[in-house]
Amino acid sequence: MSHPIDPTTTRAWARLHDLHDGFTADFRARFAADPQRAERLSFTAGDLFVDLSKSYLDDDVRDALLELAEETGVAQRRDAMLRGERINVTENRAVLHTALRRTADDTVEVDGHNVMADVREVLERMYAFATKVREGSWRGVTGKAITTVVNIGIGGSDLGPVMAYEALLPYVKDGLECRFISNIDPTDVGETLRGVDPETVLFIVASKTFTTLETLTNAHQARSWFLAQLAARGIQDPGAVAKHFVAVSTNLEKVAEFGIEPANAFGFWDWVGGRYSVDSAVGLSLAIAIGPEHFEEFLSGFRTIDEHFATAPAAQNVPLLMGLLNIWYVNFFGAATHAVLPYAQYLHRFPAYLQQLTMESNGKRVRWDGSPVTTQTGEVFWGEPGTNGQHAFYQLIHQGTQLIPADFIAFANPVFALVDGEADQHELFLGNFFAQTKALAFGKTLDEVRAEGTPEEIVTAREFPGNKPTASIMAPALTPAVLGQLIALYEHITFTQGAVWGIDSFDQWGVELGKQMAKELTPAISGDAAALEAQDASTRQLIEYYRAHR
Ligand code: F6P
Repeated sequence: MSHPIDPTTTRAWARLHDLHDGFTADFRARFAADPQRAERLSFTAGDLFVDLSKSYLDDDVRDALLELAEETGVAQRRDAMLRGERINVTENRAVLHTALRRTADDTVEVDGHNVMADVREVLERMYAFATKVREGSWRGVTGKAITTVVNIGIGGSDLGPVMAYEALLPYVKDGLECRFISNIDPTDVGETLRGVDPETVLFIVASKTFTTLETLTNAHQARSWFLAQLAARGIQDPGAVAKHFVAVSTNLEKVAEFGIEPANAFGFWDWVGGRYSVDSAVGLSLAIAIGPEHFEEFLSGFRTIDEHFATAPAAQNVPLLMGLLNIWYVNFFGAATHAVLPYAQYLHRFPAYLQQLTMESNGKRVRWDGSPVTTQTGEVFWGEPGTNGQHAFYQLIHQGTQLIPADFIAFANPVFALVDGEADQHELFLGNFFAQTKALAFGKTLDEVRAEGTPEEIVTAREFPGNKPTASIMAPALTPAVLGQLIALYEHITFTQGAVWGIDSFDQWGVELGKQMAKELTPAISGDAAALEAQDASTRQLIEYYRAHR
């Protein structure tokens, strides 16, 4: 096994320390001194226009960060990933979500086997199935067409599909809707199925492993609900489940055990991580909702950014620069969190999606060779769409004591045709996007507050310190291709950070212990005295509380 380079021992790290010691953000002075700053520090990747001029980047910092990438071998690791090497060492797997969006004439080999034929074969089956559902030729047990698709999955088998479905709602076929069940909380399945017609529903059970407790429990629950609903209507048909349940998984044996016909199972491969799987068969609900053509556009968006990440010169490489900037913020400015603030209501689940992508990937305390990390890793990603967030938590970003780098995302055009008056409203909306990054960067000085006639005793409360770092990401519109580009951008930002830190960004052992304990606690919860006695005092007390109050 190769050993990662310790970033803290590099020349670049020492240089970054020096730069940090002498660093003042002072955006007013920086913009005044350098009229080209906005232009020089703005970049294009595909349809994404990324303005980093209000970030803590300057020529020296950029050079030192790029040097850090060189010294830690980010490009080599990227190339190893793209070649299909087993860079996920703790699971001994290749990391090839990028293969999911390559074209059929490409070659990507895993252990000497070109996986592109497999990728395209599954995609074609997905498209054929999606088309049948969309055209109404896939019929339910009573001969009716499907109107509601219910995706049952959790983590990567839920967050990607639901986020993308919500983001691309204007592209969803009329008369079709998707719903999503993820939580093992029985209220999730109960609420989601409320009002669903069993004769026109299609369940997609999505689970990479097909062993995930939440998903299998919910799938069994959904099947019982479905059969009970049919029975209540006097419909008995042994073939009913086959017409209303399909699966997406890497574990086709377990799918068959559940009772889903192999013909209705859509596979993917162990080299696709759950949080990187929305562009695999896990995106089946989306493919049905928006149709194969738009799904292809979605994939082409990912491909655009993959190609940019693989080939753009380092100094222009947007995911690389943004990943390195995050290292700068986390490791030199102590930023513990990073906000992602889409000015697009359709992207309201994007921050939640990014939480799994970034935090399951980079929340690691050992490096890929098992040795402890040498610096902080994995900041908390969070956010809400603007302008809602402005009226909730922006106060802390503007005037609080913590440094919170923030990515602002906005689109020049809405994707739907505007009715009278809405064009003005879109402009008002964008006005907020422009204003927030401006206020965060340039603030309002004490003198400016005084000049407004503010009483002296509240002048400091009304001062905006400014100099808060932001990245502004703009695109013409939130199309399927642009959504693919945005997701791939953050995938490669996450990759870059993990590569510098020397961690395996593709395993997730940290979620295992709680899962295992949840299973082990079942006897204690259901009243087995010895099992209850064996618990620690706090857990015992909580279970006793539950048993006394249920
Ligand atoms: O939370 C751990 C995890 O393994 C995620 O990485 C994954 O996306 C999720 O569980 C769901 O797993 P599966 O798709 O196998 O049901």
